Amino acid sequence: MKQRVLVASNRGPISYQFDADGSLAGQRGGGGMIAGVTSGLAALGPEASVTWICAALSDADRTVARQQDAGVRDEAGVPVRMLDIPPDTFDRAYNNVANSALWFVHHLLFDTPNQPRFGREFRRDWESYLAYNEAFASALTQEAEREQPPSGGLRVLIQDYHLSLAPRLLRDRLGEAARDAGIAHFSHTPWAPPDYYRILPLEVGRALLDGILGADHAGFHAERWATAFVQCCAAMLGADVTPAGAAWRVTHRGHVTEVAVHPLGVDAPALRNRARAGDVRAHVGTLSRAAGGRKLIVRVDRTELSKNIVRGLAAYRELLVTRPQWRGRVVHLAFAYPSRSALPEYRAYTERVRQLAREITEDFGTADWDPLILEVKDDYPRSLAACAVADVLLVNPIRDGMNLVAQEGPVLSERGCALVLSREAGAAAMLAADALLVNPYDITETAEALHQALAMPDAERRRRSAALAATAASCPPARWLGDQLASLGS
Ligand code: F6P
Repeated sequence: MKQRVLVASNRGPISYQFDADGSLAGQRGGGGMIAGVTSGLAALGPEASVTWICAALSDADRTVARQQDAGVRDEAGVPVRMLDIPPDTFDRAYNNVANSALWFVHHLLFDTPNQPRFGREFRRDWESYLAYNEAFASALTQEAEREQPPSGGLRVLIQDYHLSLAPRLLRDRLGEAARDAGIAHFSHTPWAPPDYYRILPLEVGRALLDGILGADHAGFHAERWATAFVQCCAAMLGADVTPAGAAWRVTHRGHVTEVAVHPLGVDAPALRNRARAGDVRAHVGTLSRAAGGRKLIVRVDRTELSKNIVRGLAAYRELLVTRPQWRGRVVHLAFAYPSRSALPEYRAYTERVRQLAREITEDFGTADWDPLILEVKDDYPRSLAACAVADVLLVNPIRDGMNLVAQEGPVLSERGCALVLSREAGAAAMLAADALLVNPYDITETAEALHQALAMPDAERRRRSAALAATAASCPPARWLGDQLASLGS
C-alpha cells in the first residue's frame, strides 16, 4: 500500500546560497530535526510518495522558491517545495514569535523582571505567525489535492513550534477529506509547565494548544514534555485528558488527539560510516595534534541560550581552580556554531562566550598549554571528529527537547567517552544510567562531574560509553518516524 507523505517544517532539508559568481549552491539543512526526519524518510523507501514543504529562509532560497518548476530535491532525492512567504511576515513569525516567545517559553529562558512584554507589537507579530501557518496549511492542502492519495492514504507530519497552528488550519481546509487523512505534529522542544506557559497571552496560549490538537497525533521526545502539554490542555482549554497505556487521549472540540512519546536516537551505522570519510579523518588528526596527548573535554552546540555554554565554561574554569592537578593535562574543545544572529540576545550571548573563553586562556594558558579552543563556526566534519577523539563530552543545556550530540558522541567515540549530561535534557530520560547527570545551573556540581569524568578508570569509561551508544542506537530515526506513521493507522 503506497502512502502519500507530506512533511512540513520551517527549516528544510536543503538551503541555498549565492556563490561568488552569483550561481546558486545548495547545502544540507542543519539541526536535529532535519537529521531525524531525513533519515526516517529514507527508511520508507519507494512505498511512500513524499514531498517536504519548508520556508524559504534566505534571498537565495526565495530565488529557488520562485522557480519551483525546476524541481528542487534534497540530497536523498525527496521533492522539496519552498514557500516564498513575504519577508516581513516571515521575520515576525520566525524571529519575534517562534524564536523570541515560544522558544523562550518552552526553554524557560525569560528574564522575567524585564521580559517578555506582550503589547500591541506582539499582537501584530502574532498575526504574522498566523499568516505564516496559513501559508503552510494552504500549501499542504494544495499538495494533498494535487496528487490523489494512493490506497495507503494521506499522512502529514508537521514539525515543531513554528507550526503549532498548522494542524488545525489544515484540518479545517481539508474538511471531509480530513477523515481519511492522518495528521501528526511533533514538538522537538520541551513543553513548558502550565504555570510558566501562562506567561503567554491567554488567547495565544490557547490558540497554540488548539492548533496542535487539530492533529490526530501529537508527539514529544520525552514523557516530561508530553505530560506538561496535556496538563496545559486540561488547564487552559478544559480538554478531557485520559491516560491510554503509555499515551494520552485528549478530547477537545469533539476531536480526539493521541499524545505520545517518541524518543529520537541516531542512525548509528550511517553516522559511523560518515565519520570514516577523509574529511573527518583529517580533522581527527589535527585535533589530536592540538591536544598533544592531553585529555579532551568536548562540547558541540549551536551558540544558543538554552545550551548553557557560559555556565559550561565557568564550570571548566572552576575545575582548573579547584582541581589544579588538571592544569596542563586537559584541553577543552568548545564548538559553538553560529545561530539566530538576527536576535540581539543571541549576539550578546555569543560575545559573552567569546569573552569568557578569552579570560580562561589568559588566566591559565602557558607557553606550551592552550587550555581552551573555542570555535564559533559551522563545521560538521570537524564536529564529528571532535566527538571521535573526546574523553569527556559536556552537554549541559538549561533545557532541551532531546539533544542528539549526547547520543552521537558515544556512538562516534573511539576511546570511549564519559558523558556529563544535564538532567534537563530530554536525552537524560534515556541515558541517565550511564551518564554523569548534573543540575545545569550548578557550576560547582558540573565542575565536580568534569573531574569525575576525567578521572574515570579507562575500563569504566569504555563500558559506560558502549552502553550509551547502544541506547542511542536503539531508537533510530526510522523507528521514530515509522512509529508516528503507525500511530496514524494504515
Ligand atoms: O530543537 C528543535 C529544533 O528544530 C532543532 O532541530 C534545531 O536545531 C532548532 O530547533 C531550529 O533552529 P533554527 O532556528 O536554526 O532552525
